[in-house]
Amino acid sequence: MMAYVIALVLFASHALHKIFRLRSNIRAAKQTGLPYTLSPIHELEIWAHIADPILRWACSARILRGQGWPRWARFMVKDWHYEDKRRAHDEFGAIFLVVSFAGMMLEPFGPNVVSLDGEKWKAHLAITLPPVAADNVLGLLWEETYRQVDIMAMTWNRAGEVPSLKRNIYSLTMNTMLSVGFGKQSERTEGSDAVSKGHMLSLVEAMYTVVMHLPHILLLAKPVLKFLKPEASTGYTELERYMTELLIREKDLLSKSHIQKHSSRETLMTAMLRSNLNSQSDGLSLTDNEVMGNMFIFLLAGYDTTANTMIFCSMVLALYPDIQNRLIEEVDRIWAEAAREGRSELSHTHDMPKFRYMIAFMYEVMRVFPIVLPTVRDTCGPQVLSLKDTTHSLPSDTGVIVNNTAIHYDCDNWPNPGMIDPRRCGLMPGDPSNAMWQSKF
Ligand code: HEM
Repeated sequence: MMAYVIALVLFASHALHKIFRLRSNIRAAKQTGLPYTLSPIHELEIWAHIADPILRWACSARILRGQGWPRWARFMVKDWHYEDKRRAHDEFGAIFLVVSFAGMMLEPFGPNVVSLDGEKWKAHLAITLPPVAADNVLGLLWEETYRQVDIMAMTWNRAGEVPSLKRNIYSLTMNTMLSVGFGKQSERTEGSDAVSKGHMLSLVEAMYTVVMHLPHILLLAKPVLKFLKPEASTGYTELERYMTELLIREKDLLSKSHIQKHSSRETLMTAMLRSNLNSQSDGLSLTDNEVMGNMFIFLLAGYDTTANTMIFCSMVLALYPDIQNRLIEEVDRIWAEAAREGRSELSHTHDMPKFRYMIAFMYEVMRVFPIVLPTVRDTCGPQVLSLKDTTHSLPSDTGVIVNNTAIHYDCDNWPNPGMIDPRRCGLMPGDPSNAMWQSKF
């Protein structure tokens, strides 16, 4: 009986707390003078992981008809922007508020550039960003991508097999990232690799398991995860063990060579550890846990985004032969130039900048099929928002979400926004295609 009373009191006080918070949030929203709407659950709240599949199922017919989300459901759905395009902004205006609660930290393997703010974020970025753009890491990325694409093309050419674009591209991306990240090469386009000694899963399997079960891993304490989702718990533990082993190995290798000595090809982990050692003289340094946190977040942030971009690009190429032909022309031209210079291979430093149409094509595909849907920030301290004719005061800690899809489909910036035309992203001074594209509108 006592337990029931305690549970009831706890529940009632939690409900009251929520009601008071909602009331004070509504008051704050009114004070800004911006249009606002209410949502019982917000897409960034933990509960949205439950609301999302239910609402997607309930509204599937409407979504498949291309009518976007109904107003009552919209803000409870994760990544609602994709199907909604600009509808929410047509309804509420360029800037509006959604009143609710939110919050979640992305820190499964330690603090990192995504989970941190302010000075700590700057310090993490100062150490982790240079390795991502380093020539020796990009060189390794270029070579490994070549190798992985060859492996994929070989399986596609094998008679009797029906390849799955999605599975193959996801494997290609994961294999490439793990190889460039940690120096663990994989030959598989599908299925699993050999399991390393003393492990239950291969590194690729462990990474996949963690990516697939990320919400559970983020939300549940380790013992609860082990009990409720044993496969997620195994993947998490295995990935942690792999990363720890690889970190120890790389630190050992680094301590044997001179810190400053760069090799022409280097994994992201070696480059990150080297950058960390070099930063110590400036008073900046990451702990092992923070290096692992950043390595994981780079793999996570780069995996889905890159794979989905390639999948959308492949589909657009299959549907638009004129774009495909123009791309093939560019590839042939760059190979011919390399041959004239006496080279039988393309290189990242020499040839990558020449792929101007390819880059414009990828930008345009990412505009029409946005890869990162919302960009999320919190106001640190009260902020003034200046619009064309009005100014609004936003209170401290207001969540700000930039609707990238709505921006990409804004007719003022992108006439006929549903149309794919790479030339509009590749507008360069003096490019003859400028006039051609502009004359269309
Ligand atoms: C086509 C591929 C990619 C797209 C479209 C993309 C897009 C984005 C966007 C829009 C953000 C900003 C998100 C925000 O501020 O809320 C971001 C952040 C980030 N991306 Fe990417 N990305 C791609 C590939 C990669 C790759 C390959 C890596 C890793 C090597 C990576 C690592 C990161 C990291 C670590 C951040 C967080 C940076 C920070 O918070 O300071 N991304 N990405």
